[in-house]
Amino acid sequence: MKLVAGNWKMHDRGADLASAIRAQLGAPGVEVLLCPAFPYLREVGEAVAGSGIALGAQDLHWEPRGAFTGAVSARMLLDVGCTHVIVGHSERRLLFGDTDAAVAAKVKAAMAVGLIPILCVGETLEERDAGFAQRRIRSQVAAAYQPGCVVAYEPVWAIGTGRAASPEHAREAARTVRDAAGADVRVLYGGSVNAANCAPFFEAADGALVGGASLDAAAFAAIVAAAEVAG
Ligand code: 13P
Repeated sequence: MKLVAGNWKMHDRGADLASAIRAQLGAPGVEVLLCPAFPYLREVGEAVAGSGIALGAQDLHWEPRGAFTGAVSARMLLDVGCTHVIVGHSERRLLFGDTDAAVAAKVKAAMAVGLIPILCVGETLEERDAGFAQRRIRSQVAAAYQPGCVVAYEPVWAIGTGRAASPEHAREAARTVRDAAGADVRVLYGGSVNAANCAPFFEAADGALVGGASLDAAAFAAIVAAAEVAG
């Protein structure tokens, strides 16, 4: 079954948007996951309770507890109802210095409590232009993947730019992820996915990780509907 995940990033949306999405979706025929900022997790979980829509966080710390000001543990995410957590998003890697080693530790910490990590990988524009895209994807998967992770392929140059990868590029990346992680891995595509361009990505991959378009209930519902058509 396809998985459509909304990454709300640092936008202050909570139960309002979750309720609007729930109303638009009815009973979704694919897996749907909403990932609000930490302070809104609980209210979003309450707004989607009983709908089949799942709750995910955008990051976590690898330690279970301790003097880590500002950080949130895997157990805390479970406590507020999360089933998933995004790990290694390129914004974390590039803006907050998350290394491959940190990402690997976060994946382990999430899995240790039964959270499903959505491990994000993807090349920068410079890496793509230098012909290193597939190598970069392989190295990020090799560094952090554990069986049971979902992998989201998100080329950095396609995130928030309005320039999505071609479906062929996404398909090749998904193949590279499967070569590195195993044939069973679920691979999502992310990067400027919207209601108009999403359908081919549901042929190229097992779902989508949606940023900007997930903040609009009607647009997100249209993306979910396209995933349902793809099966
Ligand atoms: P956009 O859909 O806004 O390009 O963001 C993609 C993303 O980073 C999802 O994690």
